[in-house]
Amino acid sequence: MSERQKVVILDFGSQYTQLIARRVREARVYCEIHRPTLTCAELMTLKPSAVILSGGPASVYEREAPALDGAILDQSLPILGICYGLQIMAHRLHGRVVAGTKREYGRAIAHRCEVSGQAARLLAGLAHGDNFEVWMSHGDRLDELPEGFVALASTDNTPFAAVGHRDKPLYGLQFHPEVAHTPQGSAILQAFLFDIAGLTPSWTMSSFLAEQQELIAARVGENDRVLCALSGGVDSSVVAALLGRAIGNRVHCILVDNGLLRQGEVEQVQRIFAGALGVPLTVAQAADRFFAALAGVTDPEKKRKIIGEQFIRVFEEHANRIPGVRFLAQGTLYPDVIESTSLRGPSAVIKSHHNVGGLPERMNLALIEPLRELFKDEVRLLGAELGLPRSLCQRQPFPGPGLAVRVLGPVTRERVAIVRQADAIVQEEIAVVGFEERVWQAFAVLLPVRTVGVMGDQRTYDEVIAVRAVDSVDGMTADWSRLPEQALSVIASRIINEVRGVNRVVYDISSKPPTTIEWE
Ligand code: XMP
Repeated sequence: MSERQKVVILDFGSQYTQLIARRVREARVYCEIHRPTLTCAELMTLKPSAVILSGGPASVYEREAPALDGAILDQSLPILGICYGLQIMAHRLHGRVVAGTKREYGRAIAHRCEVSGQAARLLAGLAHGDNFEVWMSHGDRLDELPEGFVALASTDNTPFAAVGHRDKPLYGLQFHPEVAHTPQGSAILQAFLFDIAGLTPSWTMSSFLAEQQELIAARVGENDRVLCALSGGVDSSVVAALLGRAIGNRVHCILVDNGLLRQGEVEQVQRIFAGALGVPLTVAQAADRFFAALAGVTDPEKKRKIIGEQFIRVFEEHANRIPGVRFLAQGTLYPDVIESTSLRGPSAVIKSHHNVGGLPERMNLALIEPLRELFKDEVRLLGAELGLPRSLCQRQPFPGPGLAVRVLGPVTRERVAIVRQADAIVQEEIAVVGFEERVWQAFAVLLPVRTVGVMGDQRTYDEVIAVRAVDSVDGMTADWSRLPEQALSVIASRIINEVRGVNRVVYDISSKPPTTIEWE
């Protein structure tokens, strides 16, 4: 297998670090986010082709400020520092950073400086004359360049908005090229990746597929079997299809009907698996044990833990019936991995088990997680590459703990039935207005409150459904969807009229952050 080109992003804690990764991947270059405390030796074992130092909230002079191993700057690696990344690099190289100056936030106009030589390459491709729009977000700023650096651009507030070293591949930007508010930001990043670091845009889903097939085939022995946990969502279906390609009939798919799935979901998954995938599927009937284990539990984290534990017990029972099962495959994605490993370091609770809601520590199966490096939109592309139907690839995400995290308060069969029926109405009406692929997710949440209403001259005292619909690219940030008013109106009246026990519907208009997409 040929060595994959890789950019390593050291995460100094910026809210935009993931966006940097998105932009690099969009340029078809593979990248990984790592903690900023990597030593030079640790970094070099990752064999990076280039390094990006992210921004971050700290000031280089704070005692707790994340440091940078200075040896990294001596490796002849192409390095791009962004915001704090620039400041920490300059600080290490004996430039001068001034702290606590006037905070600069928002749009600014950068003026390109007259420079020639290799440093000029970072901004060489920019269009529209000498000025360009950038997005700033910083308190400290670079006041004196380290030895060997030249200014490539300035703003009215910042003499060194973009800088580069005369002979080394070291560059820095005080602004954020990764955000949409820097219109030529992608061009600048691409100049760094392609012209400076000499990378090629070769990270495609077909290259990823070929590589994963090889890895899986090498890991799973001839007599080993893999149990693949399906949820009906895109991720686990893609994992199943990928395993089918890599190891054929040594994969056994299992869908746990835990009583917490959406309306018609079991039948839908069965249809898809019998048809497009042709991978055998077992449905485990397990609703009773899930409801028994969840009885009386209201704490969201406890719900997730209990559900994760039950899932694993069901998987293990099935695994015991199939000789040779040593692995459990699941569709953990990159955002889950990053959330557990960035700034907080490796000791943080591993959230890679996110997608079955927290796996127990004691587990007799080794994990296979082939999507650990992918963002959701990449998984959808991979699904298409594997020949999965569009209706499946474009399905809305659905959390592993299922409707349990959309029934706030105690989870009972009755309350799950209410949220399931309301959810089905939301799905139908979203489709009527053609929004099913425009929203990231749309769903119903049953709230643990009752309100007074009047129906047919009778006083009612019933429950409340919150409708949540969000737009997002990767689930990491999201805004509430501007659904057509007519759709909202029909959703509300249908839920109140058709779902017994509900007399009020509200629409959630909060974004992520500061909220999350799911309510629990
Ligand atoms: P939050 O609620 O954290 O969710 O903003 C982000 C995205 O992840 C989905 N989600 C989950 N998916 N297991 C999953 O497989 C989970 O435990 C889980 N919790 C949230 C959520 O639906 C959204 O798309």
